[in-house]
Amino acid sequence: MLDVQTTQAAAPAPTRREDYRPPEWLVPSIDLDFDLGAERTLVRSRLTVERNGAEGAPLRLDGENLTLLDVRVNGAPADYALDGDMLIVEGVNSGDSVETTVAIQPAANTQLMGLYASGGILCTQCEAEGFRRITFFPDRPDVLSRYTVRMSADKALYPVLLANGDPVGSGDLEGGRHYAEWNDPYPKPCYLFALVAGDLQANRDRFVTQSGRTVDLGIWVRPEDLPKTHHAMAALKASMAWDEKVYGREYDLDVFNIVAVSDFNFGAMENKGLNIFNSRYILADPDTATDADYDAVAGVVAHEYFHNWSGNRVTCRDWFQLSLKEGFTVFRDQQFSADQGSAAVKRIEDVRALRAIQFPEDAGPLAHPIRPESYIEISNFYTATIYDKGAEIIRMMHTMLGGEGFRRGTDLYFERHDGEAATCEDFVKAMEDANGVDLSRFRLWYAQAGTPRITASLRHDDAAGRAHLTLEQAVPPTPGQDSKQPMPVPLKVALFGDLTGEKYADRLIVLEGVAQEVIFDGIGERPILSINRDFSAPVIVEADRSAGDLAFLSANDDNPFARYEAMQQLMLDTLLGAIRNGAADSGPVTEAVRRTLSDPNLDPAFIAEAVLMPSEAFIGDQMEMVDPNAIHIAREALRADLGADLERLWRDLYAATTANRFEYSPAAKGARRLRTVALSYLMAGGAEDAAALARQQFDAADNMTDRQGALGVLVNSDAPEREAALAAFYDRYRGNALVIDKWFSVQALSTRPDTGAVVKALADHPDFTLSNPNRLRALIGGFAANQCALHVADGSGYRFLADMILAVDKLNPQTAARLVPPLGRWRRFDADRADKMKAELSRILAADDLSKDVFEQVSKSLG
Ligand code: TRP
Ligand code: ZN
Repeated sequence: MLDVQTTQAAAPAPTRREDYRPPEWLVPSIDLDFDLGAERTLVRSRLTVERNGAEGAPLRLDGENLTLLDVRVNGAPADYALDGDMLIVEGVNSGDSVETTVAIQPAANTQLMGLYASGGILCTQCEAEGFRRITFFPDRPDVLSRYTVRMSADKALYPVLLANGDPVGSGDLEGGRHYAEWNDPYPKPCYLFALVAGDLQANRDRFVTQSGRTVDLGIWVRPEDLPKTHHAMAALKASMAWDEKVYGREYDLDVFNIVAVSDFNFGAMENKGLNIFNSRYILADPDTATDADYDAVAGVVAHEYFHNWSGNRVTCRDWFQLSLKEGFTVFRDQQFSADQGSAAVKRIEDVRALRAIQFPEDAGPLAHPIRPESYIEISNFYTATIYDKGAEIIRMMHTMLGGEGFRRGTDLYFERHDGEAATCEDFVKAMEDANGVDLSRFRLWYAQAGTPRITASLRHDDAAGRAHLTLEQAVPPTPGQDSKQPMPVPLKVALFGDLTGEKYADRLIVLEGVAQEVIFDGIGERPILSINRDFSAPVIVEADRSAGDLAFLSANDDNPFARYEAMQQLMLDTLLGAIRNGAADSGPVTEAVRRTLSDPNLDPAFIAEAVLMPSEAFIGDQMEMVDPNAIHIAREALRADLGADLERLWRDLYAATTANRFEYSPAAKGARRLRTVALSYLMAGGAEDAAALARQQFDAADNMTDRQGALGVLVNSDAPEREAALAAFYDRYRGNALVIDKWFSVQALSTRPDTGAVVKALADHPDFTLSNPNRLRALIGGFAANQCALHVADGSGYRFLADMILAVDKLNPQTAARLVPPLGRWRRFDADRADKMKAELSRILAADDLSKDVFEQVSKSLG
C-alpha cells in the first residue's frame, strides 16, 4: 500500500452510507431550455427551490465540466462562488427562482455521461451522476422535481426531439431550426432525466392498459434499423401486460418511447417515459441476432419497463440503496422471462451467470454487500452483486413468503412509498408488515458480503427408518468484514430412495443458525440428497455425494435445476480429479450424458444446458490455486472423450435438429441450441467430417444462431475452414456494428493457444476502436474473460490488458474500470503470475491523471 500513498498525491475520498443527511434544499420544479448543437449546447435552467434544512445554509449545486455563463436569483445577478465543481449561491430563500446558463460540448464527451453524441444522435445518460454534466443541480436521487423541457435544434440534422413525459408543443424557428416542448407530470430525481435529438424513425404501436387508457408506444432508431424493432416492440407490450397481471402495476403516462443508440456504457436506461438503450438490446432479426440476443432484448426491454414502478415511481434515497431498484427489477425481469419460455432453462442460465461473475466478485478484493457501506465512485457499484445477488435476495423472500405473501408485500411497498425515495429497509419492512413475519436476521443478507458455504451431510439409520440431515453454514471473511453472523438460508430439499427411486420428502428448510439437524422419518432405504433445488439460496453447497448418487439425480430428479446441477457436479468432480491425478475415469460422466441425451421426455433446450461442460473459469474458481493450463487440458480431454464415446448419439441429434426454415419458438430455439452443442462435441471428439459439417452449417444457415454457432466451433479449431469462415463472416456483415462485434468476440473467446497474439493484432484492425463500449467489450472484455488467453505464463496478457485500461481511462473511465477485476484475481494464482499481475496493477496506479473509477478498482485489487 505504501506506493499508493506516495504516487497518489490525494487519493479520492470515499462517500459513506452512515453520513447520509437529508438535502438542505429541495427543488419542486425545474424548467430546462436547450439550444442544441453537437459542438456546443447552451443549457438554461430555472429551479424553484425550497429550504429543507437549517436556516442560512447556502444553496449548493453540483456541476462537472460545465462552462458557467450566468447565475441569477429571481432575475437579478446572484451572489455566487465556485468551490471546485460546486456552485454555491448565497442569499437564496424558499420559493426563489434560481437561473443558470451553461455551455457544454456533446461531441467532445467521450465518457458517455451527461449529454453526448452517438453517430449523429444527441442523447443523455444521467444515472448515476451524469446530470451534473448538463447543468448545475443537487445531483442526488432524493431531490425530486417536476420537469419541463424546451429544446431547439437544426431541423435537418435533428428532425426528432424527444424528452421525458408528454409532448406539449413544437414548431419551426428561423434559420432552419425547430423546437419541441415536453412536460413530465411525475416528480423525479435528476438521474431519470433524458432527452434525445436525431434523425430517427419510430416503430409505433399502442397498448391499452387494464383500466382502459391508451398508451402510444414508439421505438426510435436510425431509419435503416426499423425492420429490426419488432421483437423489442412485442416484448414491450408483453412486459406491460405482465406487470399488470403479476404485480398489478399499470403504466402511468400517455407516451412511452424507447431510443436505440450505438454508444452506450451499459445495457439500457429507464429514464421516465423515454428509455434509452444500447442498440444491441433493441435490434434483432434472424440474420443478425442469435436466439440468446433475442432473449436478451426481451429481458432488457422488460427490465427497463419494470423500472417504471421499481425505480421511478419508487426511487432510491441514496446510491447505497441501489439494489432496492436493481435487485428487485432483475428479479422481476427474471420472472417475466421464465414465464415467456422455459422456466428451468432460464433459471439455469441465471445461475450460470451468477456463478461466472458474482461468485468470483464476492470471493475477491472487490467483494461488497448488496447494500455497500462506502464507495469512491458509484459507477463501480453497478455490479453483479448489486444486480444479481440482489435479485437472489429478493427471490429468497419470495420463496419463504410464497407468491401471494410476496405480492402482499410489494403491494404494501408501492402503496407506502409511491412518489418517494426509499431504502432497502423500507422494502423489507413492507414484506414483514404485510405478512406478520420477522425478517430481522434476514436483513444480514443486505449487510454481509461473501458467498455462504453450506455443508450438508446425510446419515441414514436403517433400523429406525430415519434420516438425519446436518446442515452447517460459514460466511467467509471479505474486505472490511472479518467475522460474519449466520444468516437464514432457505434450502429446498428432497430425498430419493436409492433402490426404488421413490421421493420421500420435498420441503423448504430454512437454516437459521450455524448448524441445524433435520430429521426425516419413514425412510426405509438409503436416501439420496437433492439440495438447493431451484437454487433456492445463493450459496455454495458441499454435500458429499458419490458419482453414483449424482448420476442418479442427473437422470431422475424431478426438479430440472437439481438435475442440471447434479450433472454439473459430476463433471466438476471428474475434472478436478483429473487435474489432481493427471487422469480421470470419464465413465460415469459419459453414462450420465448418454442417459440425458437419450431421454425422450426432456426438452432439447434443457438437454443442451445439462450436457455443457463447466467453463474453465468456473473450474478455476473451485481450486485453491488456479492452474489454467491443467484446467484447459483436463476439460478438452473430457470433451474429447464425450465426443468420441457418444459420437453416434451426437450425430443422431445433429441430424434430428437440422432445421429447414427459421422459426422463433421455444421448440425451434431448443433444437438450434442442441444442434451446435452436438456439433461442438463432434468436433471435440475428432470426427473427421466435423469441420465440413460446421462449414456446411455456416453456409446453409438462415439465421445467426446457427451461423455464429458454427463459426464458434471452427474458430476454436485448427481446421482449414476456420480462416475462410471468418473472412466470409466479416465480408457479409462489414458495416453492421453489432455483428462485427461478434466477429471480434468469437476470436477473443477462442480456446486456441494463439488467441493472445490474435487479439493483439485485432486491436490494430481498422474496425477496432477504444471509444465504442460494445466493440471494446467484444474484444478486450472477451479476452479478459478468457482464462487461458489472459493468464499465459509470460505475463504478456496482463501487460496488454493494463495497456488497454490505461488507454481507455483517458476516454471513458467507467468502461476502463470494468476491465480491472480480472487482474484482481492474483491471489488465486501461482507466485510468478501473481507478481506479474500485481506489477501491472501497480503500473496502472502510478499513471498520471488516473480516474477515480480506475483508481478505486485498482487500489482495492492490490489491497
Ligand atoms: N439503471 C440502468 C439499468 O440497470 C443502469 C445504467 C444505465 C447505468 N446506464 C448506466 C449505470 C450508466 C451506470 C452508468 O437498467
Ligand atoms: Zn436496472
